Amino acid sequence: MRIGVAKEIKSDEYRVALTPAGALELTRRGHEVIVETGAGIGSAFADSAYERVGARIGSAEDVWNESELLLKVKEPVQSEYARLREGLVLFTYLHIAADEPLTHALADSGVAGVAYETVEADDRRLPLLAPMSEIAGRLAAQAGAYFLEKPLGGRGLLLGGVPGVAPGRVLVIGGGIVGYNAAVIAIGLGANVTILERSIDRMRHLDEILSGRVSLVMSSSLQIAESIRDSDVVIGAVLIPGARAPKLITREMLRDMKEGSVFCDVAIDQGGCAETSRPTTHSEPVYEVEGVTHYCVANMPGAVPITATKALTNATLPYVEAIAEHGLREAVARDPSLARGVNVVDGKITYEAVAEAHNLEYTPLEDVLPLAPV
Ligand SMILES: NC(=O)c1ccc[n+]([C@@H]2O[C@H](COP(=O)([O-])OP(=O)(O)OC[C@H]3O[C@@H](n4cnc5c(N)ncnc54)[C@H](O)[C@@H]3O)[C@@H](O)[C@H]2O)c1
Repeated sequence: MRIGVAKEIKSDEYRVALTPAGALELTRRGHEVIVETGAGIGSAFADSAYERVGARIGSAEDVWNESELLLKVKEPVQSEYARLREGLVLFTYLHIAADEPLTHALADSGVAGVAYETVEADDRRLPLLAPMSEIAGRLAAQAGAYFLEKPLGGRGLLLGGVPGVAPGRVLVIGGGIVGYNAAVIAIGLGANVTILERSIDRMRHLDEILSGRVSLVMSSSLQIAESIRDSDVVIGAVLIPGARAPKLITREMLRDMKEGSVFCDVAIDQGGCAETSRPTTHSEPVYEVEGVTHYCVANMPGAVPITATKALTNATLPYVEAIAEHGLREAVARDPSLARGVNVVDGKITYEAVAEAHNLEYTPLEDVLPLAPV
């Protein structure tokens, strides 16, 4: 199959959808890979690194027009809508339930749009979102430690302490992928870590894997209000699938926090879990409310494109290989996880939540791509 890798043109996006290592796996299997000039630069991959593994470097036109399968990181922006066409399989983060113009552009063009974020395993895991949550969680602990420094407006506390001086306290609200990864780094820095969760099963699992290195406490409004008083860093890491983040932290609660403490709201991409949260950017990551530094960057992995690009390729490559090997129709027939990723095909909306969000007709995927038994 002819596989294209487009350069991201959305502002502040430095990731690329395929590493040279990923490109080699594809060229080895006999596929043709075309990478847009400079597509990997933001992630420190030169064009020559792709050429060395047998990929071809081409213009945006070459990549979009010649590919059968096009790999991207972010959804197409408006100037790319005209490039969408029938016969092309587009594999990228789409998030179209929140983007009506793009939904229409995809449907009108006849492209097959497969969204990373809706590829879903039978046990409901989201394998192509998980690596970004891992990165965001780890960054949140680092950001918390950093913004505690006095010259940055923080309390002036070293999170890990030193022998003879107690470490700082980190409170993680939500013990999912973000929360676990935030806790791992905070523990590594030497902090005293508490996770508030509301799923008993998840807490049992965390207890097994973190074996006594964190306090695990049932989450409730009262518990949150009590725990944040003693904390130096609070990390918001909750998710209610398909819904906006619950507002668990009120302005009132923040007033009880210590002056110069830090609140990292990782759940900001779902609206944030505090009343006082609003999205920030990497160029201006923090603001202060009630004496608490708020770090609410909506695209945290964007800060570490080298890591994020590699982690993303690790996760997407098996699906890319399946589509390249079998074609989309057979690949989705073989793998229900991938089938759940198909949002739009032949002008039909095949992902129910997207159709509902925009009041459009929903067509089950089997009606458009008959899932023949393999
Ligand atoms: N800002 C960014 O750059 C960025 C990057 C990746 C993920 N995120 C966001 O981080 C959030 C967490 O993602 P995740 O992958 O860890 O999700 P996840 O589903 O793995 O974990 C969420 C956890 O929150 C728990 N939870 C729900 N309500 C709770 C409550 N009231 N109190 C305590 N715990 C509660 C759930 O039981 C679950 O364990 C999501 O909103 C996600 O979109 C943001």
